[in-house]
Amino acid sequence: MAARQDWESGRASAGDELEPIETASREELAALQLERMKWSLQHAYDNVPHYRAAFDAAGVHPSDLKQLSDLARFPFTSKKELRENYPYGMFAVPMSEIVRVHASSGTTGLPTVVGYTKNDIEMWAGVVGRSLRAAGGTRNDIILNSYGYGLFTGGLGAHYGGENLGAAVIPMGGGNTEKQVQLIREFAPTIILATPSYMLTIADELQRQGIDPTSTSLRLGVFGAEPWTNEMRREIETRLGIDAIDIYGLSEVIGPGVACECIETKDGPHIWEDHFYPEIIDPETGEVLPDGQLGELVFTSLTKEALPIIRYRTRDLTMLLPGTARPMRRMGKITGRSDDMLIIRGVNVFPTQIEEILLKHECLCGHYQLQITREHHMDEMTVLAEVRHDLSEVLSASQRAAIATELRHEIKSAVGVSADVHVLETDSIERTQVGKAKRVVDKRPKASV
Ligand code: DLL
Repeated sequence: MAARQDWESGRASAGDELEPIETASREELAALQLERMKWSLQHAYDNVPHYRAAFDAAGVHPSDLKQLSDLARFPFTSKKELRENYPYGMFAVPMSEIVRVHASSGTTGLPTVVGYTKNDIEMWAGVVGRSLRAAGGTRNDIILNSYGYGLFTGGLGAHYGGENLGAAVIPMGGGNTEKQVQLIREFAPTIILATPSYMLTIADELQRQGIDPTSTSLRLGVFGAEPWTNEMRREIETRLGIDAIDIYGLSEVIGPGVACECIETKDGPHIWEDHFYPEIIDPETGEVLPDGQLGELVFTSLTKEALPIIRYRTRDLTMLLPGTARPMRRMGKITGRSDDMLIIRGVNVFPTQIEEILLKHECLCGHYQLQITREHHMDEMTVLAEVRHDLSEVLSASQRAAIATELRHEIKSAVGVSADVHVLETDSIERTQVGKAKRVVDKRPKASV
């Protein structure tokens, strides 16, 4: 890597220029994508037993890819395959080549494990650096990184991206809102990276401390990891007097930085198509849909070494839109999911994870409901559980409360979210007419494309 030449003269703007591929024509981009896609399919086929078996079963071979649209002949990948190959079975390189492991929520107790080689980390830092630049960041900025560090890809992904940009990164992490405010006051960050809902919590804390939220050193926020609306953007921008930019990503594809909005247009994240090839499919039939139609977003990695991911079903519902600020295509706001995953304060939660915990308790039956609300911009999850029929008369209110406390701890440690748990008498939770249980009642506002 070239040494920084300019350290004595302070921070120059050299690192703030666009990469040539960001302004390449669609034709140039497509040629690069085709070459890389051939490599990625072959790499997956040669090195991951799952892909070899799945391609063989579907009667396709990497050499069948003659043009980009041939990708539609290849089988999809989902969390299920990652779970079946837990923890490292989908890796295409030996562990000696792996330098980092992250994980995200699986549908059950098993998390989804992802790995990175040195080159993957460099590519990832590059696409997050590119995202932050598109968002309006420069190497002169001081970044307060309030995404959680740890197994979650948000913290370290954003961190390396900020450094790649050449900015100064403050590795604060999530939580401890009073400390966040102290750092905003004393370290004078110009950019904040956080989930949008947490940004509003920080704004509340600033106000609580008698600080005008528009008076801070912050000028820009890059928000993602959970769905948010343009109304929420307006609220953040007005309350804090900053620009609010949408960044998208998911662990299986790399982490944050799969796509990011450009400050000049703020019209949906541009997908960094030179590394991640998007498709929109009909979630029912799997058929590829044309740009502009709403469906499920699917990604194929084009350059990843450790975990090549072929036609990964994100379950995120959105549409592909033509490029504006860049020739690369944009995605609309995520309007929902084709599975039942919930994102509670940035943490991915599957109802089945809660179900597993409840059913392990000998006093509870299979009836439960998750109620999600948003109070003061923060997601709140209430878990309603029912005691077993034969114990309804036996357990006192205080015994039920004790079980609720126990469950609250278990949910916090296994799933990572704080829930308000109520253990109710039998038949307290509503049963639907058709007999299907209504597991989730989500009362939060929904985004539109
Ligand atoms: O949330 C990576 C990330 C970190 C993105 C920080 C942006 C900023 P996972 O934990 O694997 O990865 O969760 C991925 O979160 O499939 C979407 O459902 C949702 N999501 C991520 N970004 C956005 C966004 C990270 N900007 C899942 N808008 C994805 C809406 C988002 N949903």
